[in-house]
Amino acid sequence: MSEPVSICVIGSGYVGLVAAVCFAEMGHRVICVDNDKDKVETLRSGGVPIYEEHLPDLLGKHLGRGVEFTANLAGAVEKSEAIFIAVGTPQGDTGAADLSYVEAVVSEIARSVTEYKVIVEKSTVPVYTNEWIRRVLHRHGVDPGLFDVVSNPEFLREGTAVIDFLHPDRIVVGAGSERSAQLLQRIYAPLTSGTYYEQPGALPGVCSAAHPARILVTSAQSAEIIKHASNAFLALKISFINAVANLAENVDADIEDIAAGIGLDSRIGPRFLRAGIGYGGSCFPKDVAAFHWVAQQQGLNFQLLDEVRRINDAQRDVFFNKVRAALWTLRGKRIAALGLAFKGDTDDIRESPAIEIVRRLIDSGATVTAYDPAAIERTQAVLPPSEKLKYAKDLYEAAKDADAVLILTDWKEFSNIDLPRLNRAVKFPIIIDGRNLYKPDEITDQGFTYVSIGRPATYNAQQGKPRKLIF
Ligand code: UGA
Repeated sequence: MSEPVSICVIGSGYVGLVAAVCFAEMGHRVICVDNDKDKVETLRSGGVPIYEEHLPDLLGKHLGRGVEFTANLAGAVEKSEAIFIAVGTPQGDTGAADLSYVEAVVSEIARSVTEYKVIVEKSTVPVYTNEWIRRVLHRHGVDPGLFDVVSNPEFLREGTAVIDFLHPDRIVVGAGSERSAQLLQRIYAPLTSGTYYEQPGALPGVCSAAHPARILVTSAQSAEIIKHASNAFLALKISFINAVANLAENVDADIEDIAAGIGLDSRIGPRFLRAGIGYGGSCFPKDVAAFHWVAQQQGLNFQLLDEVRRINDAQRDVFFNKVRAALWTLRGKRIAALGLAFKGDTDDIRESPAIEIVRRLIDSGATVTAYDPAAIERTQAVLPPSEKLKYAKDLYEAAKDADAVLILTDWKEFSNIDLPRLNRAVKFPIIIDGRNLYKPDEITDQGFTYVSIGRPATYNAQQGKPRKLIF
């Protein structure tokens, strides 16, 4: 493989930890820094604080060889050519990203720059953050000849983070100088030249030696906007399909057929057209708001983004009203909630629509028994078990004596439910699916009434189709 680069990654969250371990997998020498000493200890002993496929194996493979963990930022910066900043940029009160963690880290880096370093923004940040980083370094007296600032946004998704990192659709490098662009090109060379994919034990994915990863070199501002605009566009696709789903349902059309029909147009593409209870997670809600704020700062009103958010918020009401329409009153009803994470394959519950729905059910007087393959522990930290909320060890236990079963997260496990077994467990066979995991007929054939998104509800023979009820 190509020449190794000494890399420091600051922050060991989803992006930082995955980047650190994957850079080691690509053959570089990596020091990952976090100021949370307990987390550093966990990582040093091979423990992975997040649920992410391949990460424990890769960490085991490279720990103490290609990657090490420390709380000593200055020491790590001194030893590294490239310093990736991957700390949190949470949403502030105005919708703008709160960049105080980035600023704090840059001030600390400034104290340790004694020879040329490339400082790389990996966190999602608004346009001109590269300029601010440069300014902060100047203010701390760092010689402008001793550093360059590069924007290298990350496009990985939680749940598939390692594969997304090693098999990216594109690598974007926003660099203001040839020297810094070259260092980033060296770092990503194993992916862009394809040598990584030929290596024994390389994790397989869409890229290969014949079709290696593509790299796009732009200005730092363009790279910053590429990241925000990509997330905003994906969020827009989801809100668009949800708006169409609500229309489809009113006219007895089927959103799954419609999405397939739209997605076959190669200009549109089939992905991110899954209707449901709306997007959540730590990225889309925050980035749509932050991008809107960025435009506002430039005197532009990017109203389209307001609408994306409004449709997304309303989608939770749409689902909640379906529950009410199926059960009439909620007080005293037993409801099984399948899924708590904001999407499948992750234990992350940040901005999870599932959590909001569970809260609303409890507030309406229902008793909820929830199950999630990975996110129960995190949920219990914010919603402790109580009279109104219980946690089950599997989905059938959650469904026991339920008046209705709600599917809130698109875990694979929930697409393969043993329906006869579920039917025996519940009080009434009603499934309200916020993720459209089933074909209506296959559910109805098993004796269930099935309510989903953007498709007419189907009713089991016994219950029959009710007359339309108005709420
Ligand atoms: C998202 C982007 O997809 C990544 O490219 C980006 O790097 C990341 O944000 C980030 O900025 O860090 P992520 O939040 O992990 O990744 O999850 P997604 O798979 O994009 O899903 C986001 C939400 O949209 C989930 O709640 C998911 O259930 C929902 N979704 C997704 C839909 O409702 N419909 C779809 O068709 C696709």
